[in-house]
Amino acid sequence: MSVIDDERVNLVAADGVGASTLADDVRRGLQAPLRELPPKHFYDARGSDLFDQICDLPEYYPTRTERSILERRAADIAALTQATELVELGAGTAAKTRLLLDALFQQGRPRRYIPFDIDGETLLRTGRSVAAEYPSLEAVDCVAGDFERHLHLIPAKRPGARRLFAFLGGTIGNFETRARRRLLRTVAAQLHAGDHLLLGVDLVKDPAVIEAAYNDAAGVTAQFNRNVLAVINRELQADFPLKAFAHVAFFDRANEWIEMRLRATRELTVTVREIDLVVEFAAGDEIRTEISAKFTPQRLARDLADSGLELVELMSDPAGLFAVALARPV
Ligand code: AVJ
Repeated sequence: MSVIDDERVNLVAADGVGASTLADDVRRGLQAPLRELPPKHFYDARGSDLFDQICDLPEYYPTRTERSILERRAADIAALTQATELVELGAGTAAKTRLLLDALFQQGRPRRYIPFDIDGETLLRTGRSVAAEYPSLEAVDCVAGDFERHLHLIPAKRPGARRLFAFLGGTIGNFETRARRRLLRTVAAQLHAGDHLLLGVDLVKDPAVIEAAYNDAAGVTAQFNRNVLAVINRELQADFPLKAFAHVAFFDRANEWIEMRLRATRELTVTVREIDLVVEFAAGDEIRTEISAKFTPQRLARDLADSGLELVELMSDPAGLFAVALARPV
């Protein structure tokens, strides 16, 4: 990674992505009857690092399975899309981006990479390293924002460009049906004729396999889960005792999603100083911190249809653990 400023790398950051969204979410989420914190707040620098560690865990199959699909199919994706601009939603450290960029360089000449992520720090690091690795990219335009509010900050495509939006990793599963479809519609609204969306979705399977992926033996997912409390402690001067919260993750069969929670192991009182909030927990009280929806072909088809998208190709692994859908505007 280059530490020297690269003039090809730009950053657009939405206002209030950090603390102010967090303050609203904490105020609303911890006072609701069903306590809840949105999963986007996991991802400060430490949370992003913990997530990268999760991706390497033996139990966590999604990342390596998606990568194997992309390894096998990246050339087809490049041929089908002929994309000259790659927009990546939830780019993180862009571990899988290189597969797509390499394939696009094989078949043509990608000019621009546009990573979108919640954490500006991780994003700039990612943008700089991609720019350094691909000297012939003309621009790396990083956009720091929240999927649900800031997709409009993604710069317009250049005349004649063909765009590939990549939304990988199964992150779309973090949203309940209505929010998911709203988000997909917003993404679809950015697509013009000739553009494509590449959507990674985790598939419904044996619940034991899914649950193991979110209850790893090394306890990394537990640390990741509790990291949201560390973020609140730091950003909003709160005093959550991290050790007093147990990691809980289970597959909800009716909703076909994984649900992660933090469970208070004793009675405790938490003060969130920055927003003058005091929250009481009885032993056993829980905060929902994440849902991760798993897909059947039906769920995927309905989501795409509802968003005005049509499936071009559905790519999966031999065991049917994960799928990558290539779609385009109808
Ligand atoms: C980044 C949302 C796809 O849901 O599997 C991993 C996050 N949470 N382990 C997922 C996560 C716990 C991950 N996504």
